[in-house]
Order: sequence, then C-alpha cells, then structure tokens
Amino acid sequence: MKLLDKEFKVLISNSKIQEKILELANQITKDLSSKDPIIIVVLNGAFMFASDLIKELHFPCQVSFVKVSSYTGTKSTGKIQNIIGLQEGLKDREVLIIDDIIDSGLTMAFLIDEVKKSSPSNVSVATCLLKPDAFSNQFFVNYIGFPIANDFVVGYGLDYNGYGRNLKDIYILKS
Ligand code: IMP
Ligand code: MG
Repeated sequence: MKLLDKEFKVLISNSKIQEKILELANQITKDLSSKDPIIIVVLNGAFMFASDLIKELHFPCQVSFVKVSSYTGTKSTGKIQNIIGLQEGLKDREVLIIDDIIDSGLTMAFLIDEVKKSSPSNVSVATCLLKPDAFSNQFFVNYIGFPIANDFVVGYGLDYNGYGRNLKDIYILKS
C-alpha cells in the first residue's frame, strides 16, 4: 500500500482491532458504567477508534472532542501546545480521554494536566496504540489496545501528512 512517497504493509487488521475493542469496552464498562463519565476524544487521530469503541459502551455517558495543536514556539524548548475545545464543567466528573496513539506521551501528559485544572473526580486514559519504547511513563494508561514497536504507523485514523486516516487496518512503514 502506497501513501505519497512511502510503502506500508498491514500491521493490525481491522478484525483484530474490533476484537480488541470488545475487550476494552468490557473493561471500561466494569470500571465506569455506574459513574456517568464524560469521554473526551482527541482529534483528529482518535476519531475512528473512538467511534468504534464508544458504540460498544452501553451505559450513560457524554462525549466531547478536543484538538491539540502543536506549533514551534519562539522559545528554544521547541514545542508549545494548545488545546482547542476543552469544555468547562468537568468538576467532580469521571473523565475518560481517548486517543489513537501514545508515542512519547507528551501530548497526553499535557492534556491530562489541563483537564485536572477543572478538578474532575478521576481521569483515565484509553489508547488504541502505545509505543512502550518511546513512552516517558509519566502517567498511567488504563486501557491499551496494542503495544507496538517504535515505528511509524498509519491507518484507522492515523495519518502520514494527512493521508491514510480512512484506512480500515493499521499499517506500518515497509523497511
Ligand atoms: P506523543 O505526544 O509523542 O505521544 O505523540 C502524540 C501524537 O503524535 C499522536 O496523537 C499522533 O497524532 C502522533 N503520532 C505519534 N506516533 C505516530 C505514528 O506512528 N503515526 C502517526 N501519528 C503518530
Ligand atoms: Mg493524535
């Protein structure tokens, strides 16, 4: 499979993803079904995973969306991040954040900090993919679909320069 200048091959099929989603949904249901959670989906990458996962949660919950934009700031430290769409009203709420992939974990760490400023009763994290060799481990990840090697992946919401988000399976760069 080719996207722009790069060749990719299937790493995780959609049927494997769907099986895993049922497992995760079961765990989440055990933990959160009585807690009236508010689910925060991190756009753009998590749209497909979150959509499939949330459809398997058969209990009352609210769903909201945020976007984390990173841009190179004027400081030499490099990345400055900004969260768009984070709503008020998280005080004393059970919050579940859903993302597509945790790589270094910097994006999620920043988002967790921002959410905690609203004094939620609890914050938990679900991710489709996690790269253990890149992850800084500065927070606990409650629900992990698949741990993967420290390689570039696309598909199922994840992109390469904006392309590949529509693919049903998850692909890895062909070496
Ligand atoms: P982190 O802050 O290093 O954890 O990276 C977070 C974001 O980088 C993810 O939410 C993705 O949008 C993007 N990302 C990290 N690894 C990959 C990858 O292998 N493919 C596509 N996007 C990635
Ligand atoms: Mg993302």
